Amino acid sequence: MKKPSDTLIAIAKIGDLVTQTLDTSEILSQVVAITANIMKVDVCSIYLYERDENALVLEATIGLKHDAVGHVHISFGEGITGRAAKQGRIVAVKDVTQDKRHKYIPMTGEEEYRSILSVPLRFQDEVIGVINVQTKEPRTFEKHERHLLKTIAHQVSGSLRNARLYERVLSAKRELEQTQERLVQSEKMAALGRLATTLSHELRNPLAGLKGASQLLLKKTDELDERKQYVNLILDEVERLGRIVEDLFHFARPRVLRYEMVDANKIINDVLLLNTHDQVLMNITVRKRLSKLPMIMADSDKFKQVVVNIILNAMDAMSEGGELIVSSGVIRNEPEGKDIATFQFRDTGYGIPEDVMGHIFEPFYTTKPRGVGLGLSVCKAIIEEHCGRISISTNNTTGDSTGIVVTIEIPINNPQKVLTK
Ligand SMILES: Nc1ncnc2c1ncn2[C@@H]1O[C@H](COP(=O)(O)OP(=O)(O)O)[C@@H](O)[C@H]1O
Ligand SMILES: [Mg+2]
Repeated sequence: MKKPSDTLIAIAKIGDLVTQTLDTSEILSQVVAITANIMKVDVCSIYLYERDENALVLEATIGLKHDAVGHVHISFGEGITGRAAKQGRIVAVKDVTQDKRHKYIPMTGEEEYRSILSVPLRFQDEVIGVINVQTKEPRTFEKHERHLLKTIAHQVSGSLRNARLYERVLSAKRELEQTQERLVQSEKMAALGRLATTLSHELRNPLAGLKGASQLLLKKTDELDERKQYVNLILDEVERLGRIVEDLFHFARPRVLRYEMVDANKIINDVLLLNTHDQVLMNITVRKRLSKLPMIMADSDKFKQVVVNIILNAMDAMSEGGELIVSSGVIRNEPEGKDIATFQFRDTGYGIPEDVMGHIFEPFYTTKPRGVGLGLSVCKAIIEEHCGRISISTNNTTGDSTGIVVTIEIPINNPQKVLTK
């Protein structure tokens, strides 16, 4: 390479590159290719400085082994490359075998290269990396060659800065978008909350009236009167509306809980008993594996609401029949020495596809034509208010049908709640 105009070609090519892409690794790999070609060398590599490790990491190369990219770490000041970085100046060596400073790195396969020209990449006063060229034949790098590599180094430093600035702008933009999204979301939730409060308040009283009146009507209707089935229908639907209103009410005012000592197994038994009629009709087998539990500190109405919501979901999912296994037990949380009550509801229903799983706890998320989508979000809020956890996974114990397992954990003694009661 004799013609000084090569400098111009190189600068023009690298300049073009920078206007075309802002992807750092793309820029670096193109720069090493262009440089090796123009300088007619066997190797061109770029190392970037990692502040945390105080080392130079190989980021792009042509000529050295490709597997080495990302894996070669040269301590600041070590070998010829490290020295160029540490001293912030060009180091040229005609024959590394004659140079004590040279440190050979086996992973790169560089033993066949004799001469090296090492130029620091700078960013204002700071060294941010090194660009190296190497040749097999011992070679004295001439002044204009050193000048060329220095100019390339300058260009690379500039484009790295642009790319980094751009990355920063992008991430700031992403952050802004997320904040905005959260803001809109929380505004929406607040509006929904207000709506839910009004609705649940307005609906509770008339529903209670409807329920009372239809129960009276049921009593006054003769056993054989065919109108009795209509009254039962009214009662069923009133029950359903009542549950929706309770969920709405909890969604709107989650923090009004009354804690007492509660027999959780009894609540589960009561709820299951209430639904027995439907279970038989729907061909659902219920198996109970309830272990003896101590009384737990909980809001019994809210806990019941959780159990009802989970069991109704299981029944919805097993409209063609199936099996529901309800179990309870106590586990000891060792690090804290706390006893935790656990409850599992395992069904063999239609299960939850992966893309749905991430949404099921969101308020108003439903996959059912007649669903409201508040059940699980309310369960989660109630369980968390009890300092507990709720999780859902696919039921792996079943053969062909999938189904899900809902697991609930509630600390048995919740000192915080005792105090605030
Ligand atoms: N046992 C279950 N089996 C299958 N899918 C379920 C089960 N429980 C909940 N899901 C899914 O989670 C969604 C949200 O449930 P939920 O919050 O109770 O609202 P809703 O029952 O009104 O749809 C349901 O629409 C359903 O897709
Ligand atoms: Mg539900």
